[in-house]
Amino acid sequence: MILLQAHQIKPKVYWVGGIDWDIRNFHGYTTHRGTTYNAYLIIDKKIVLVDTVKHYLFDEMLARIRTVIDPAKIDYIISNHVEMDHSGSLPKLVDVAPNATIVTSTRGEKGLQRHYKKNWKFHVVQSRDALNIGKRTLHFVHIPMVHWPDSMVTYVPSDKLLLPNDAFGQHIASPERFDDELGWAVVREEAAKYYANIVLPYGGQVQKALAAVTALDIDMIAPSHGVIWRSHIADIIKEYTHWASHETKQRAVIVYDSMWGSTERIAHALWEGMEAEGIPVTMRNLKTTHISDVITDVLLSKMVLLGSPTLNNGMLPTMGAFLTYLKGLRPQNRIGFVFGSYGWGGQAVGDIEKILNDLSWDLPEKSVNINYVPDGSELNEVKNIGKKIARYTKVQKSKNKINER
Ligand code: FEO
Repeated sequence: MILLQAHQIKPKVYWVGGIDWDIRNFHGYTTHRGTTYNAYLIIDKKIVLVDTVKHYLFDEMLARIRTVIDPAKIDYIISNHVEMDHSGSLPKLVDVAPNATIVTSTRGEKGLQRHYKKNWKFHVVQSRDALNIGKRTLHFVHIPMVHWPDSMVTYVPSDKLLLPNDAFGQHIASPERFDDELGWAVVREEAAKYYANIVLPYGGQVQKALAAVTALDIDMIAPSHGVIWRSHIADIIKEYTHWASHETKQRAVIVYDSMWGSTERIAHALWEGMEAEGIPVTMRNLKTTHISDVITDVLLSKMVLLGSPTLNNGMLPTMGAFLTYLKGLRPQNRIGFVFGSYGWGGQAVGDIEKILNDLSWDLPEKSVNINYVPDGSELNEVKNIGKKIARYTKVQKSKNKINER
C-alpha cells in the first residue's frame, strides 16, 4: 500500500497530486526535471477535488487523498481541462467516488465524453458561474486555448486562491511545493520553457486570461504542473504579460546545423560580429540541443539567425524539424537572418527564408549562401552582416522602446 502524504496549502485545501520523476519527454518536449500533475482537495460542507493526475499516478493521488478523507465522500470533481495528464485518472476515480459530479465547461463535457465514453454525472458551468460548497463559493472563468478550447480556471475568493490548470505551470518534479522553496531562477527558467513550448501560439488568449486573472484578489496561484506560486505572483504575471505580447530581450540566438563545418563557420562569424556590437548571443547547434530548448531561447530573443547547408535539394532534417516546430508555435516580432552553404543547388536558404516570411518576421539583411567552404574575406563580410543586424536591432529598439525589454 502506498503511503504518501497530502500537503496542506491553505486551511483545509490540500495538494494531492502525483510526481512524475522519470518523464523526460512530454509529447516532444524534453522535461529534464520531470514534472508533476497537481490535484487539489478542498474540504468544506461538500468535498471537492480539482483536477486529477495522469492515469499511471492514480494510486499515488488516491493515497494522498486517503490521508485526509475517504475518497468515496468526494462530491465534486472539477475538470478544468480535458487533456489526459489531468483527466486520465477520472475513470478510476469515479469508480471509488461514485457519488461525484464532474464540474466542467461545455467543451470540457464534450471532450471528456469523447475521451472516456462514460455515462458520468456532469454539471456544466459557463464562464463566471459559481458553485457554493459550504463556507466557500467556487468561481469559474473560461480561458479557451490556454491550453485547449475547454480550459478554465477555478477561483476560490475566500482563500484568495487561483487554480488555473496549465497556465503558470512548469515541468518540475521536486519534493518542494512552493516557488520560494526552489527559488525564482529555477522556477522562472522552467516557466519560460513551459510557456515557449505549450502556450506561445496563444498570446492573444493569454492576454485576455491575464486581464481576467489580474482583476481577482489572489495570494496563491496553484497550477496543474510544478510548484505553487505564493512569493513570485507579481513576477510571473509580469513575465506572462511580456511573453504574451511577444516582447523580447536585446539578444540573439543562432540556430544551425552543419555537415562539414562551413555553415558552422558562418554561424561563428555572425556570433563574432554581433558580440562586437555588444549583443549577447546564444549558439544552438541542432545536433546537440533539443528543439524544445531552442524554442525557449527564441521566446527570449529579438534576433533569430538560422543556418543550414543544402542536402538533397533541401535543408538538413534537424532544421526541418525545428522549423516545423517554430511554424506551429508562431513567435512574432522577430528579426531574422538566414545563412547556409552548398555544393550545388543551394535550396536550403530559400526554403528557410520562405518560412520566416510566412511568419512575417523582419529580414533586414540579404541571406548568405556560400559555395563549399567560406574563405577569409567571405567570413569578414559575414561578421559585418552580424554587426549590421545588431545595429539595425538597436535602432528598432530606440524607435519602439515600449515593445522591447
Ligand atoms: Fe497539462 Fe494541456 O495539459
